[in-house]
Amino acid sequence: MHDFLTGPMFYVSFSVCIIGLLVRLILYIRGLAWQLDRVAYRAYPGLGWNGAIRSVLSWLLPFGTSSWRQQPLMTILFFGFHFGAVLIPLFLVAHNLFLKSKLGFSLFTIPQLLADTLSWMVVVSALLLVFRRIALPEVRILTTAYDYLIIALSTAPFITGLLARYEVGDYGFWLVMHILCAEILLIAIPFTKLSHIILFFASRTQLGMDYGIKRGGQKGTSMVW
Ligand code: HEM
Ligand code: HEM
Repeated sequence: MHDFLTGPMFYVSFSVCIIGLLVRLILYIRGLAWQLDRVAYRAYPGLGWNGAIRSVLSWLLPFGTSSWRQQPLMTILFFGFHFGAVLIPLFLVAHNLFLKSKLGFSLFTIPQLLADTLSWMVVVSALLLVFRRIALPEVRILTTAYDYLIIALSTAPFITGLLARYEVGDYGFWLVMHILCAEILLIAIPFTKLSHIILFFASRTQLGMDYGIKRGGQKGTSMVW
């Protein structure tokens, strides 16, 4: 099982994730229509890209937008979850040793203490995100089983990764479970709303362009729309 998951299944899940995300991005961009969206993307590239970069960066900064500031608890949970969700898969020492042996390259790595802290933060934040969906009526009415499934899929590699890391019980078992959960997640990413990993940047760029060009950028000028 270990050989299968770290061999063929690793290459399959990794490629499905990367190629799938690229396809989602291309489909998103091809689906844009300036007439329908009423955004003059090409006509004002300077104003557009200015607005796009501003929008992406403000949303990536904790409390960087007024929506983040209006919902401080959600902001803390969101960033508590996402710092680890993004940094651990990419920059954990163990992952980079694995990457080097499989694909011949590795990335920058983070210290073990930081990795442990971020991993715990992901698990605790995920529990609180679930609690939020149950506790707040305005979120509860929008929540379906699918939302819980996505949180479970995203958190499973963290729980199993920590169980392996602390060698709770049978190390080999938890490592295999960890890699299995991680590969299920990688495969699920392009086909579910986890595709937001790339589509977040696409939709924020689009909206930022709209604000930069039309709704703010050229306010008070003779632009007809
Ligand atoms: C650069 C990468 C990422 C960005 C920019 C991003 C951004 C976002 C945003 C804007 C939301 C919506 C928050 C809201 O409800 O207001 C969200 C939700 C979520 N993201 Fe990400 N995300 C990224 C990576 C990831 C990764 C790698 C995972 C999983 C390992 C993940 C799992 C989730 C989950 C489970 C939710 C839903 C939380 C809930 O149900 O309340 N994200 N993300
Ligand atoms: C298929 C790809 C993956 C492989 C082969 C892999 C392998 C490993 C290995 C060997 C460890 C070290 C266990 C130890 O300390 O002995 C580990 C730890 C961990 N992995 Fe993965 N992993 C993969 C993907 C992921 C993904 C996608 C996530 C998160 C979304 C993740 C999250 C973690 C966490 C949270 C830990 C423990 C961190 C800590 O040391 O505190 N892994 N992984």
